[in-house]
Amino acid sequence: MIKSYERLLQGNKNWAAEKLKMDPNYFKGLSLGQTPEYLWIGCSDSRVPANEITGTKSGHIFVHRNIANVVVHTDMNLLSVLYYAVEVLHVKHVIVCGHYGCGGVIAAMTNNDNGFVNNWLRNIKEVYEKHSKELNAISDVKERENRLVELNVIEQVHNLGKTKIVQQAWARRDLQVHGWVYGMSDGLIKDLNVMVDEISDLNPIYRFDFKPV
Ligand code: CO
Repeated sequence: MIKSYERLLQGNKNWAAEKLKMDPNYFKGLSLGQTPEYLWIGCSDSRVPANEITGTKSGHIFVHRNIANVVVHTDMNLLSVLYYAVEVLHVKHVIVCGHYGCGGVIAAMTNNDNGFVNNWLRNIKEVYEKHSKELNAISDVKERENRLVELNVIEQVHNLGKTKIVQQAWARRDLQVHGWVYGMSDGLIKDLNVMVDEISDLNPIYRFDFKPV
């Protein structure tokens, strides 16, 4: 009997053969390098694969995913991905894409002990606290969850703006940051139109003085 992980290897063989059938140079082209235009910061949730839901192919999106698409300023992993995407790959857009029904966001709204993940979800609890007046006024739990999903994305977009990496790219006028939410039930992405592409949108305390390069 075929083991579950062997299905992945078999699936890979089929996929590679399919790609070659469509374009004999498919892998030759990809192996030359990547020039993605987008950095995607999304949730680790298995139902939100960046390429699949945006109808893009290998090579189009540089991807970072974590639980509930959080931008934490001490996260060396995220900062390295962001730096490399912006400074080396010269992506034009950074997209934070959350999703309705996000387990991380929903867990953060409860008092449940989620073990080690408590530490990560703390970031979302802080988003809740910041917007508690608005959130507590929403009586329907599902609606409140959805709104926190949106507010979480908006806060993470702002967190990107607080990094020198993004501020420097803004000074060069060659980067846009976006906040999106994916709808699990209809497969559609909603643009939250978070207008943070100017340094002036940030609280002055987060601005760095540097000479634009
Ligand atoms: Co999620």
